[in-house]
Amino acid sequence: MVELGDGVVGGCGDRSVLVTGASGGIGTVTVLRLAQRGFDVIGAVRTERKARALVEVAAARGLWLRTVVLDVAEPGSCRQAMERVEEMTGGGVWAVVNNAGIPQAGALEDVRDEQARHALEVNLLGAMRICRLALPGMRRKGAGRIVNVSSGLGRVPWPMGGWYSASKHALSALTHCLRIEMAHAGVRVCLVEPGAFATAMLERAITDLTDAGRAGDTPGYAASRALFGSVNKRVPGPEPVARAIEQCLSAVRPRARYTVGLDARLLVPLHTLAPLWLSDRIKHRASGLPRTAEVPPRCGDG
Ligand SMILES: NC(=O)c1ccc[n+]([C@@H]2O[C@H](COP(=O)([O-])OP(=O)(O)OC[C@H]3O[C@@H](n4cnc5c(N)ncnc54)[C@H](OP(=O)(O)O)[C@@H]3O)[C@@H](O)[C@H]2O)c1
Repeated sequence: MVELGDGVVGGCGDRSVLVTGASGGIGTVTVLRLAQRGFDVIGAVRTERKARALVEVAAARGLWLRTVVLDVAEPGSCRQAMERVEEMTGGGVWAVVNNAGIPQAGALEDVRDEQARHALEVNLLGAMRICRLALPGMRRKGAGRIVNVSSGLGRVPWPMGGWYSASKHALSALTHCLRIEMAHAGVRVCLVEPGAFATAMLERAITDLTDAGRAGDTPGYAASRALFGSVNKRVPGPEPVARAIEQCLSAVRPRARYTVGLDARLLVPLHTLAPLWLSDRIKHRASGLPRTAEVPPRCGDG
């Protein structure tokens, strides 16, 4: 690796990058951007069909990238994919971007164990498993980068999205520890915390809120669907997130944390500084959840 004048890494070194969740949204925009900037990109997607589609999208822009089939929630698939990546790169990738994620929205009393477990598998355990499988190669090289894509909601727990916030909060904690544990091996570890960006994620959250089973009973469902729907109409495309991910890979000394988007940059400090009663009040209002129980009529009333 050589350092260019503007504090950017470049030149003749290994620039191989594995990006998970490359079939859509932030992942697709990121792999295209990285391919354009000369990285040796491997986009991880869940099926061969999605792999072909990604290669075609890249080729239509005159870009070249490789793909691997990977389901981050399946340990066997992760192992196989990382063996394949090791063959493709002749010793392992220089960088990993753990971008695959799912929303898992719903009131905590309604989310079943298997749904919660799956959210943790995809958003947390899968990401850390990929790190663990990639790290021996990075150690051998004495260099590497890991970029974990969390969320502003990883620092701002959001009602009706509790499991999502919890999984991203845990990812943030583990990324922090990994950054310190791997520094001596020349591996830089970054966290990217996007606010809301226009991808399929918000639509998937709305579907979760429709499928949760109690959609008719609980006030939070209708209001949260309306909130996510209106946010979805107003948010920008995911290019700023791809730009931040590229910075994590290009900067000589990348920052530990990149919070992307005005909403996240405002919400995160506001949540930290505001007294709990105020932040609770905002969340109650935004999620349409009453702050107090409605008093049931007493026997004999009326
Ligand atoms: N968009 C936002 O507003 C926002 C905000 C904060 C954080 N984020 C984070 O950004 C990341 C990317 O999300 P996005 O917004 O681009 O959403 P998206 O368009 O829904 O993309 C999610 C990606 O993850 C993949 N994925 C889901 N389950 C997987 C599994 N088990 N194994 C491998 N890949 C899997 C999906 O693949 P399939 O196509 O096969 O389903 C898809 O490529 C996520 O980690 C998300 O939490 C997004």
